[in-house]
Amino acid sequence: MRIGVDYYPEQWSKSLWIRDVELMASTGVKLVRIGEFAWSRLEPREGVFDFAWLDEVIALCSNYGIGVVLCTPTNCPPLWLYEKYPDIVRVGEDGNRLQLGVRGHRCINSPIFLEYAKRITEQLARRYGVHPSIKAWQIDNELEAYPCRCEACKNGFRQWLLDRFNDVDGINQAFGTSVWSGEYSSITQVDLPTAYPKAWQNPSLCLEAHRFASDSTVTFVRNMASIIRRSAPLAPITTNVRFHEEMPDFYRIFDNLDFASYDNYPMLSVPAGAEYLYSHSFELDVIRGMKEKNFWIMEQLSGPTGSWVPMSPASKPNMIKGYALQAIAHGADTVMHFRWRTACTGAEMHSHGILDHSNVPGRRYFEFADLCQTVTKLKPLENTEIVSSIAILLSHDSFYALGMQPQTENYHYIEQLRNFHRAFTRFGANIDVVEPTTDLSRYKIVVAPSLYVNDNSAIENIYRYVINGGTLVLTNRSGVKDRNNNCIMEPLPTAFRELVGAEVVEYDPIGDEEQRIIDFSGREFKCTEWCDILKLNTARAYAEYADSFYRSCPAVTVNEYCKGLTYYIGTVCDSEFYEKFASNLMKQNGVPRLNGLPVGVEITTRTNGNDEFIFFFNNSPNNTTIGLPKHMFSIIDSAERDRIELKPFEMDIVRK
Ligand code: GAL
Repeated sequence: MRIGVDYYPEQWSKSLWIRDVELMASTGVKLVRIGEFAWSRLEPREGVFDFAWLDEVIALCSNYGIGVVLCTPTNCPPLWLYEKYPDIVRVGEDGNRLQLGVRGHRCINSPIFLEYAKRITEQLARRYGVHPSIKAWQIDNELEAYPCRCEACKNGFRQWLLDRFNDVDGINQAFGTSVWSGEYSSITQVDLPTAYPKAWQNPSLCLEAHRFASDSTVTFVRNMASIIRRSAPLAPITTNVRFHEEMPDFYRIFDNLDFASYDNYPMLSVPAGAEYLYSHSFELDVIRGMKEKNFWIMEQLSGPTGSWVPMSPASKPNMIKGYALQAIAHGADTVMHFRWRTACTGAEMHSHGILDHSNVPGRRYFEFADLCQTVTKLKPLENTEIVSSIAILLSHDSFYALGMQPQTENYHYIEQLRNFHRAFTRFGANIDVVEPTTDLSRYKIVVAPSLYVNDNSAIENIYRYVINGGTLVLTNRSGVKDRNNNCIMEPLPTAFRELVGAEVVEYDPIGDEEQRIIDFSGREFKCTEWCDILKLNTARAYAEYADSFYRSCPAVTVNEYCKGLTYYIGTVCDSEFYEKFASNLMKQNGVPRLNGLPVGVEITTRTNGNDEFIFFFNNSPNNTTIGLPKHMFSIIDSAERDRIELKPFEMDIVRK
């Protein structure tokens, strides 16, 4: 377990470097991440490389026992490159070239950009490839599947379509272009989607263009990784990601990398209302699922965020430390804080680091120093990991396709996943979030909300899981689209119908209207957003609607299929329903439940196969107490205790 910081030596005078590194070392920092935006310092003029300053910083770090994460600077090419080759700039969906001087404005499909990107990456890899201080490599920064409309992308996309659909007739067929006279008679008429709202554009075209953009990023990462690997066979390679609308398929990105890493910015404002559950733990489980192993945090919250948005509130006491430990509780092995010092210049000057503009170590610095000390006690956690009996499936295609075509007021794909994640979290369960094609045989419960775009290998995988005795939960908006993002002429949930043993005869997208369902035991719950009106084939009703013209029709069903069981939830319910449902499922499947946990308390377990370590995190603004079934040993303060008392945002870790 290591704590590190992100550092931008090129932004500070040399006289600060030694004082910074000295203070980092005495604070307990073990790693620094450098170089990600420094291309203009590394290659100030075409073909003229300057590594002297980087040599000096790396040597300084190694003198103080600090390792280095070296980044490739391809996110920000120098201005001389743009001046010579203006075509390497991204073209927005509005047809305009992006403004220079901001970051991430290069197009990764531009052949000229790629030539230069490969060269600077190769130079760095050759120079530092076997340097003992380099502990890891980071490619670029927060890569996106951005929708670029430059000539290279346009031509690449046309070729991509021809590779998939053979010819223009094949594309017409796949995209259903007879609607609104959209038929192509020549490949030159095929263009990338524009800035016009996506919901007005051909859905097949939009999904395919996103797949193309995503695949371009995957190819870029694969090429850069292989350049680094050739000269730097020792240190592992990653790229840092953040979740957003234009994200590429991160499962495929990390296929080519050694470990996943995430930029972790949990919420700084605590929602009003003690009952409200909020947590960043879902994201942490998503990132662990990218490679199905422990991960790193490359950027961790260190203070008020802001710059391109108004500044967030200050971190409450314990948040800096607690959120970093929360990441470890979900499988992070290294946490790097963004950033050591707050920038005094440039557009990012209000994104706060550990040290403020004043350069006077303050409250957040001392909390960070305390975190570094605490982490020295976490040696027993080396080689431990999260093992879970519950999985939630995340489909990249469904995420994108559902984002593009709003289904009903308030409906968000990721919220469907979070509803279940929150419910299982209330019972202290470890939860994996993984892709639908992964091996599901190790799970007792698999929840696959809104698998909207069909994928044959995922469908087969899910059937196999249930046939062999698994318990599966599907929900509304499953099996709606074929791979080309077109609707299927079959009753929903199409490919999953047999598994579900029921079918949708009609649906009611009720948006923010509220209705009720009643479960088999007579308990009533609120539902909203969407109501599938179901007809039972082999399934039984688990809950029925209590309102509207479909009163008494099944809303939730359960079906025995081969050795397994499939539940189908046709609506979107309140948190009480999901909690009750999760509790029933855990009970039936023998998954241990911790009942009566105070709201906001998050419990996860890491194990090495012999020892188990339980993390108790108080993700709430109130003091809390949790009784333990026996005396347990805390590895935080080396004391035995039979109950855990936590201040807001505090963590305790005990050996089971
Ligand atoms: C991240 C980005 C960093 C920095 C940070 C500010 O998304 O990777 O470079 O901009 O946001 O919060």
